[in-house]
Parts: sequence; C-alpha cells; structure tokens
Amino acid sequence: MATFSSGEAHDDAAARHAHVVGWGMAVPESALTNDELSTFVDTSDDWIFARTGIRQRFIADEGESTATLAYRAAQQALEVADILPTDLDLIVVATSTPENIFPSTASLVQDWLNAHDAGAFDLSAACSGFVYALNMAADSIRAGSIGAALVIGAETMSRILDWQDRSTCILFGDGAGAVVLQASPAPGGVLSSVLRSDGAGSDLLAIPSVGSIDADESRASTNGNKLYKMYMAGSEVFRFATRVISESIEQTCTAAGIQVTDIDLVIPHQANLRILQAAARKLGLDADKFMSNVEHYGNTSAASIPIALCEAIEQQRIQDKDHIALVGFGGGLTWAAMLIRWGVPEPREQHGSMLNRQRRHVQYRIARWRSRSRRWRRRVDRKVREIRD
Ligand code: ACO
Repeated sequence: MATFSSGEAHDDAAARHAHVVGWGMAVPESALTNDELSTFVDTSDDWIFARTGIRQRFIADEGESTATLAYRAAQQALEVADILPTDLDLIVVATSTPENIFPSTASLVQDWLNAHDAGAFDLSAACSGFVYALNMAADSIRAGSIGAALVIGAETMSRILDWQDRSTCILFGDGAGAVVLQASPAPGGVLSSVLRSDGAGSDLLAIPSVGSIDADESRASTNGNKLYKMYMAGSEVFRFATRVISESIEQTCTAAGIQVTDIDLVIPHQANLRILQAAARKLGLDADKFMSNVEHYGNTSAASIPIALCEAIEQQRIQDKDHIALVGFGGGLTWAAMLIRWGVPEPREQHGSMLNRQRRHVQYRIARWRSRSRRWRRRVDRKVREIRD
C-alpha cells in the first residue's frame, strides 16, 4: 500500500483523504502528422499548427479500441501504485467513445484485470469526463465507502470523426490515461472540485447516435450532421472554453481556501493551445504554468488530462506538496475543475515491488482464464438445459 512522504502529522485519525498514488497512459502505435492529413483533407500543417498548436495525433489501428487502450493505461497505473487489481473497489471509465452502449468499457477492463472486487461503470461528460470521474471516486473514498479506485479517461475519437470535415477531423486523436486514487490519513490529495453543465449548449458539440429518441439519418441530417459523427461549432466552443477554464479554476481555489497564484501547475484539457494561452492570460498566470502536449496528441477528449498528468510527472514538473489544478470542458456543455495537493508515494522496497509485479501478472493471466472458463461453463449449462428440456 502507498504511503506519503509529506512528513506532516496526520490529522484526525478518522479523516480520509483521496490521493493519486498511480498513473499510466497508452496511445496507439501509429501517428498521423498534419502533412499526412493534408494529403486527403483540404488543410495544411501551417494552418493546423497556427490555429491549434497540433502537429500530430495517434490513430488506433484495427486491433485497438477504447477498452484495449484503457487496459494498457490501467496496468501501468497499477504498476506505479504497486497495488493488486483485487485491491480495487471501483473502476470508472470516462469516455465518449465506449466499446458499446453496454456492457460498459469499465466492465471489460475490470474483467481483463481480474479486479473481481470492483464495481465498474462508464461516465459520459465528454472532455470534462475525467475530472467528473475523479471527483466521484474521491468523494466515495472520503465518504468511506471505498478504499481504492481506478479512474480512466479513454477514447478512440478517430472512429467518430467525419474524415471529410476539416473543421473537426484535424483536432482529435486516440489514447488513454489512468490514475489510481487511494484513501490515506495523510492530509492533501483531492482538495476541492467544481462540476458544471449548461445543456442549452448541447447543439454546439455532439455525436448524434442511437438513444431514446429515434436515431435515424433524417434526424441527424435535419441539422446537416451525420449520424455517429462528431460536429462542433468551433468558434463558439472556443469562447465558452476560455471563459469557463478561468471561472472554474477560481471557484475551485476559493473552495480549497487558496489563491490562484498558489497554483504550481494547471493540467487543462488539451483542445487548442490558443485556448490555454487565453485562459492563462485571464487568470493572470504565466503560460508556462499550463501543461500542454496538444502538439503530439491532438485532442484526446476525456483522455487528455490524465495523459498530460503522466507527462508532467515524467518531466518532473510536479513536486511533493504542489498545488495542481485540473480543468476540463466540452460537450454537454460540461466543465469541471479540481484542485489537488500532490503527495508523492515513497519508493517501495524492491522485494515487495518485484513480488507484487509477479502477482499482478499472475492475476492478468488468471483473468483471461477465468473469463473464458465462465463463458464456456455458461454455454455448457445452456446446452445441458436444452437437452434436458
Ligand atoms: N484547414 C484549413 N482551413 C480551415 C480548416 C482546416 N482544417 N478548418 C477551417 N478552415 C477555414 C474555414 O473554412 C474558414 O475559412 P473562411 O474564413 O474562408 O470561411 C477559416 O479557416 C477560419 O475558420 P474558423 O472555424 O473561424 O477557425 P478558428 O480560428 O475558429 O479555428 C478551431 C477553428 C480550431 C476548431 C477552433 O474554433 C477551436 O479550437 N475551437 C474549440 C474546439 C474545442 O475546444 N473543443 C473542445 C471540446 S471537444 C469535446 O468536448 C469533444
């Protein structure tokens, strides 16, 4: 189990804090550069880079999906946290591109990990989804109903893009990021969150698809949009984004009792570099306090914040006791901000880690066997019942 190196006296023994103790990310192998894109879409590297800051994005090949990317990111996060899948109580996957409407992508990941004591569900809040999911998990930890959660943002945006629509297809990419959140008596971790929505803006950004209203081509085409393909009113979403990033960060700082200037690093949803620069100006923060990796990944929707978090940690931009602000915005409209006081888990003893690594790998193997044997047993039972009847 992770401990924290904050060195502070623990507060009230009953107090539970939700700390990020593990993190991981996964992207597909194939990158698509702006130059490659401009061979089949009427655009250019100059236009895309100047307007968005994007140079390339990763695109899932046939064998990859939201669930496989989520699973790879989850394995890494468990490795860093050095806990077993069976220690997890909850798995949440924030996604707009789930494997199916149901079963949830989270249930598939739960099965592949052999996390047999965990509840699992998907959460839909577009690009704000990861912060929403992290907030749900943190609240469950603080309330005492769970001890450890795996929170994943995962997307295969390439599957819902209209590759003839240059106003959207140039922006998005595929990937997944995951964190393990764990209860600890050490102060810090998730300090505050702000979740917001404005459904009046639901027509600005959407993927028309099968739902409780008749989903047919005629409904989608009334708006001039295609079924199962994303559409976006770009400039309106741009204005909305710059407004809500600064507002929600200010609100989450007030809730945590700190000043905006106390923030050490903002990890925003990676939609467009110009949005991040405008938001930094509004907040009076240096642009370099905003983590940005949109250049390499494009907009990976719910996956962008955990991917950026992983890279910030890797680049040593996050230190113990730093105040980190996460902020997401997107379809719904939705937006969300969260303030975290970082606590870096102490390095594990080599022996314990090696042993746990082996135990995790055994559990992944068991997971495959367990899943197959359960399906096989169900099939046999069905046959036996058919013969009996
Ligand atoms: N290549 C070349 N030219 C283009 C392209 C392209 N890919 N796309 C549009 N253009 C042209 C337009 O046709 C237009 O030409 P015109 O002036 O002759 O009519 C011109 O470029 C300007 O188009 P705008 O749409 O006004 O360009 P803008 O500067 O607004 O940039 C962009 C567009 C990048 C989409 C921007 O609006 C944006 O980033 N919006 C926010 C997106 C976002 O944050 N989404 C977050 C949520 S995503 C989610 O939740 C799933």
